Amino acid sequence: MTAADTHPADPSRPRRDILITSALPYANGPIHIGHLVEYIQTDIWARFQKLRGHNCWYVCADDAHGTPIMLKARAEGITPEELIQRVATEHRADFDAFRVGFDNYHSTHSEENRDCATLIYERNRDGGHIAKRTIEQAYDPVENMFLPDRFIKGECPNCGAADQYGDNCEVCGASYSPAELKNPRSAVSGAVPEQRQSDHYFFKLADFEDMLKDWTRGGGLQAQVANKLDEWFEAGLKEWDISRDAPYFGFEIPDHPGKFFYVWLDAPIGYMASFRNLCESERGRAAGLDFDAFWGADSQAELYHFIGKDIIYFHALFWPAMLHGAGFRTPSAIFAHGFLTVDGQKMSKSRGTFIKARTYLDHLNPEYLRYYFAAKLGPGVDDIDLSLEDFQARVNADLVGKVVNIASRSAGFISKRFDGRLAAALPEPGLFDEFVVGGQSVAEAYERREFSRAVREIMALADRANRYIDEQAPWVVAKQAGQDDRLQGICTQGLNLFRLLIGWLKPILPGTAEAAEQFLRIDPLTWADLDRPLLDHDIAKFKPLMTRIDPKQIEAMLEASKEDLAARQPATPVSAGPVGAGKGGEGAGRHLAKDPIAETIDFDTFAKLDLRIARIAKAAPVEGADKLLELTLDLGGETRNVFAGISKAYDPATLEGRLTVMVANLAPRKMRFGLSEGMVLAAGPGGTDLFILSPDTGAEPGMKVK
Ligand code: 2FM
Ligand code: ZN
Repeated sequence: MTAADTHPADPSRPRRDILITSALPYANGPIHIGHLVEYIQTDIWARFQKLRGHNCWYVCADDAHGTPIMLKARAEGITPEELIQRVATEHRADFDAFRVGFDNYHSTHSEENRDCATLIYERNRDGGHIAKRTIEQAYDPVENMFLPDRFIKGECPNCGAADQYGDNCEVCGASYSPAELKNPRSAVSGAVPEQRQSDHYFFKLADFEDMLKDWTRGGGLQAQVANKLDEWFEAGLKEWDISRDAPYFGFEIPDHPGKFFYVWLDAPIGYMASFRNLCESERGRAAGLDFDAFWGADSQAELYHFIGKDIIYFHALFWPAMLHGAGFRTPSAIFAHGFLTVDGQKMSKSRGTFIKARTYLDHLNPEYLRYYFAAKLGPGVDDIDLSLEDFQARVNADLVGKVVNIASRSAGFISKRFDGRLAAALPEPGLFDEFVVGGQSVAEAYERREFSRAVREIMALADRANRYIDEQAPWVVAKQAGQDDRLQGICTQGLNLFRLLIGWLKPILPGTAEAAEQFLRIDPLTWADLDRPLLDHDIAKFKPLMTRIDPKQIEAMLEASKEDLAARQPATPVSAGPVGAGKGGEGAGRHLAKDPIAETIDFDTFAKLDLRIARIAKAAPVEGADKLLELTLDLGGETRNVFAGISKAYDPATLEGRLTVMVANLAPRKMRFGLSEGMVLAAGPGGTDLFILSPDTGAEPGMKVK
């Protein structure tokens, strides 16, 4: 197939060759609803392109390499291969249940990926784009392994907080190198790390500066992403360390025994490998899929990567550069999205809002979440919020109350009075045509990934269809003698409007659309079918296509998602996955061990603390410090500027106006971002699980805490 082929139903429309990917989830943890924002968003777009008749393929894989996976397997007493096999089965089951319709789901730990990674490395090496340097790195002498930054813990060199990771402090937000940590320990064995030297291999990103600048200006990036890239160009493109020392779960670098490709080198290559695996499958061969037509340097096919905004650097710099250096095509566009909050806050295990895909499925219909995300998603990188109350209200009002209702109001009469037969003509073809015109705008919205606009426009038309039925009042006509033709016409019109609505919703609600196709006794709908009415046709008896959400289902899901923090002490740091990790590194995560009670202090020492009630007058994120919020605290006349490491746990807007407790006599500290004049008190292990203290009603700003 080539892009010159035309659409089978409309020769004037070129049939596009499109390859779409979602970021590969790490093979060491379950899929959660944060991940699903991306997979659902991508799936909707892929389904839309397929419905339009394009030659569209959607592939993904598990991201199976790296230190966290190696250590997790070790902690479970199994091989990494066994771990990634088990997780792959779980991931596939979750994706299937959410109807994420991958055309292929593979693994980065595959022969195709080894071949592609080797080829890309060797071509870049032969092109002079790989450099060798000796670096010094922390080494665990007990485990005999070099330690990634996230596997070294110690006291923060800035604020002294205990138990901080080797790259930044969760308490004060300072960034530092692991060598600066005080009393460093290996998070794997507890041993004191040594500094040892090792040869590493670096990808010379700066060789590709001109090419990357051209590519950035080629229109394939969202404005916010292109701006970010400009900042990186200004800061200068740095060499990228693509090797890791044994022991490492990954691919050994062909000409360097004992050295392995860093997980992020072969992760995006997993997109290629998955597609290659598809091309070589029976299905791929039957479809005439040609790997080079999609990946060759002069490919006319379109290639799109949907990713979270935290991994832009990897996809918009390293990836196109590596591809170009190896003689492959570059992506047509990168579509980055924001993170998910639940009820305005970061997902939290203790609040029960860190919801695994499987837990959701145990309580709710996946179509609800697909619809809600679609109703919230736009083409930008803004975060989206799942407000549980709004979720319930919207699904019930829009899907059950509007769309499904149109069918249930019309279908009964067709079954009972006309033996399931639709009329031979529409009484109001003009209204049907109006809908068809509306469908063109819906298609444009989908194409631009303006899903919330698509949903808004579909729902406005659903309102119009319900108004038509209200005005025609078939239940009144049904009681009038000699009005059978009219009654059959009204209900046929209603069901035809329903058919258009469900056809347009099909990328979002594939399960409901399938049930509607069975009810209407029609072949799977395509977009091209949606400009002709369904007439003189037998339909099945109507069965409710969707039920309302009962708030009890949501409560039960939250309850099931709550975990006992004390019971949760993973042996190795865990990854939060592509959505929510905010790191883009391997093994982002944290230990959740309980803090031991500190040494006793005498009363005089305690009495020196001046704790005060403060009103949070303003709360704002801090540029360049993803854990900090800048708080303006009102002490009843006096205001203080305080940086607090609570941004993973709180949406700043929800804090404004709230009373809390602060240490008012802490000596001001100069931080990278400004002066911090005190400290707010918060409990919890850190990250999303932090809880600031609130006084009882009656407390006022400035009151001393005694
Ligand atoms: O951030 C992550 O979860 C990575 N596993 C995403 C990889 S995407 C691609 F590069 F493979
Ligand atoms: Zn600190």
